[in-house]
Amino acid sequence: MAEITLSIIKADVGGFVGHSDVHPALRDKCSDCLDKAKKDGLLIDFCRAEVGDDIALIMTHKKGIENEEIHRFAWDTFTKMTDVAKEYGQYGAGQDLLVDAFSGNLKGMGPGFAEMTIEERPSEPIIIFLADKTEPGAWNFPLYKMFADPFNTIGLVIDPSMHDGFRYEVLDLIGERKIIFSMPEEMYDMLVFIGSPSRYVISHIFRKNSDEPVAVTSTQRLFLMAGRYVGKDDPVMAVRSQSGLPAVGEVLEPFSFPHAVAGWMRGSHHGPLMPVGTEDDTPTRFDGPPRVVALGFQLKEGNLIGPRDMFADKSYDNARQMALDAADYLRRHGPFEPHRLPLDEMEYTTMPSVMKKLKDRFKPV
Ligand code: 13P
Ligand code: 13P
Ligand code: MG
Ligand code: MG
Repeated sequence: MAEITLSIIKADVGGFVGHSDVHPALRDKCSDCLDKAKKDGLLIDFCRAEVGDDIALIMTHKKGIENEEIHRFAWDTFTKMTDVAKEYGQYGAGQDLLVDAFSGNLKGMGPGFAEMTIEERPSEPIIIFLADKTEPGAWNFPLYKMFADPFNTIGLVIDPSMHDGFRYEVLDLIGERKIIFSMPEEMYDMLVFIGSPSRYVISHIFRKNSDEPVAVTSTQRLFLMAGRYVGKDDPVMAVRSQSGLPAVGEVLEPFSFPHAVAGWMRGSHHGPLMPVGTEDDTPTRFDGPPRVVALGFQLKEGNLIGPRDMFADKSYDNARQMALDAADYLRRHGPFEPHRLPLDEMEYTTMPSVMKKLKDRFKPV
């Protein structure tokens, strides 16, 4: 099997109702576009997916990453969906399309994307995660657990082909630079950075002896627009598994703890990341709490055999209960940190105007 590329490109082009879900008319438009692209031979296969108000185009093809035709197709699809969103008065129609016209590729244009080109293995299990009301740094915690923590992934200890560990590529969103850390030797160094997920974001994971990605996250938009605060960006990621990589159960296990992430209500609050089946992917309480769905696929000659709704499993009930309890606990802080984000990270901050109004009333001490 020659190389194939998996592209997951996502955008919020209008919410139904508010920021909670996607209207069926947008889904239909999206499916029409994807069907046509497959018939035209642009795509090998596709799956339309969503979480909350975000729609993801999961696509396989032969054109490589950051390909103009693929990115243009995604842009055109989101544009057509935006027209439908406007027709139906959907909330925030075209929210994630930040520029007027497509040029070259989607970097800095609004939609998020996670892509990898791989040599498909005889059996290629891939889990695709989609999250709403959070940011790409939300993947730092689970990715650390999957590929670097033996208390999560016993394969790191007992599978000889994993025992050497993995390499993590980390982006500095503010410094606009990246660094590769080698696990487990540089674990403590890496944790200094990835423990600050609003600034340092894991973008790729590689085996020790190959530059072919085994995990990829959507960070490009943030990276390209870094240097100033760019807001929360509901993220996606793809993780390959088995045969020298974490088993499917090891890939899913980190989400048994609903860790706190940024991005709830107005992109300005911390909340627990609740793993849910696709039936429950519609955040409503205080526009949340943030949630994540996991879609399992077996790739076969580029065909996406799936999806399986991995978090629909009962074994995630306790994680959901813990998330609901944590949501109650955090909500009682109201406008106080650490529920509300620090001032410099708030998406819709009124700080500058309040400060302007009060500036003459601050006296030196
Ligand atoms: P593989 O090494 O074949 O991926 O098997 C590991 C496994 O499935 C254990 O759960
Ligand atoms: P989205 O980023 O999912 O559109 O949510 C925005 C928001 O402000 C929710 O309260
Ligand atoms: Mg929205
Ligand atoms: Mg969203």
